[in-house]
Amino acid sequence: MVELKNINSLLKLNNGVTIPCVGYGTFRTPNDVAEKAVEDAINVGYRLIDTAAVYGNEEGVGKGIKDSGIDRHRLFVTSKLWNTDRGYESTKKALDATLQRLQMDYLDLYLIHWPANRKQFGDKAAEINAETWRAMEDAYHEGKLRAIGLSNFMPNHYQELMKTATVAPAVDQIEVHPGWTHAEEIKFLQAHNVLVEAWGPLGGQGASVMTNPTMVELAKKYGKSTAQLSLRWILQQGVLPLPKSVHADRMKQNTDIFDFEISDEDMQKISALPNLGGQCRVPDDVDF
Ligand SMILES: NC(=O)c1ccc[n+]([C@@H]2O[C@H](COP(=O)([O-])OP(=O)(O)OC[C@H]3O[C@@H](n4cnc5c(N)ncnc54)[C@H](OP(=O)(O)O)[C@@H]3O)[C@@H](O)[C@H]2O)c1
Repeated sequence: MVELKNINSLLKLNNGVTIPCVGYGTFRTPNDVAEKAVEDAINVGYRLIDTAAVYGNEEGVGKGIKDSGIDRHRLFVTSKLWNTDRGYESTKKALDATLQRLQMDYLDLYLIHWPANRKQFGDKAAEINAETWRAMEDAYHEGKLRAIGLSNFMPNHYQELMKTATVAPAVDQIEVHPGWTHAEEIKFLQAHNVLVEAWGPLGGQGASVMTNPTMVELAKKYGKSTAQLSLRWILQQGVLPLPKSVHADRMKQNTDIFDFEISDEDMQKISALPNLGGQCRVPDDVDF
């Protein structure tokens, strides 16, 4: 693995494009809050900004980026196609609307937010995902997207998609935090040269990842916060965490994870923790 020195140490995607190893999340951050939060995050040092059409904050994220005064080319901006926009034509339209809201002419990475699943779409699910992906591939070839990828795709969805894909997905963004490890899926995706991004790396709202006694004890041992321990545990698996905070002090704290190394034994202890809450959704079971 590349030596990671700070949040902007670069990882290489399967198409050669580079991506900072830690990103900034913007879920549950409405437009008015997002503008200031994104500007703060850029000032703190984040260069990878993760948003999605369904967060309803792409305008705010775009304004925050403008307000920061940073050159667009120094950022890595990700957004995601929402479920109601699947299909070839609607994906193309949804991407253009996203670009307009962000006030940008390209994205660094665009993801299919959730796979169409069999529970909702029966035998049509695979075809819907294939058509959505075909639109992403076309936008990639047109230069609107520097990389394309997936979110919440499990190995079965990935394998199905690869029957028709002509561009291999560069990224899969899935829920990963202590208590919800997705270890097998990470192994599978990495073996297929897909960079795994961790959403909810702190467990998201309402989880007990940051208060769990084992996490507290281990964090103390390393002289770090439980949030930092969780992020470091993710990084050491070769996975890219996307912590979200609207508080500048926490944004900063979440970047300070490069001056310690979790031992193999402690990595395993964290990996063995029981479910600590979080969204813990199973993509084949979701009904949205
Ligand atoms: N692809 C998907 O389906 C999907 C789904 C969910 C999320 N995501 C992406 O992943 C990002 C992260 O996930 P998430 O937002 O659900 O959850 P998260 O980053 O795991 O956790 C965010 C929560 O932790 C708090 N927090 C942050 N840093 C902290 C610290 N150092 N100490 C204590 N508390 C801290 C935040 O509060 P404050 O903000 O008040 O500080 C917020 O309540 C999202 O923002 C989004 O970009 C993607």
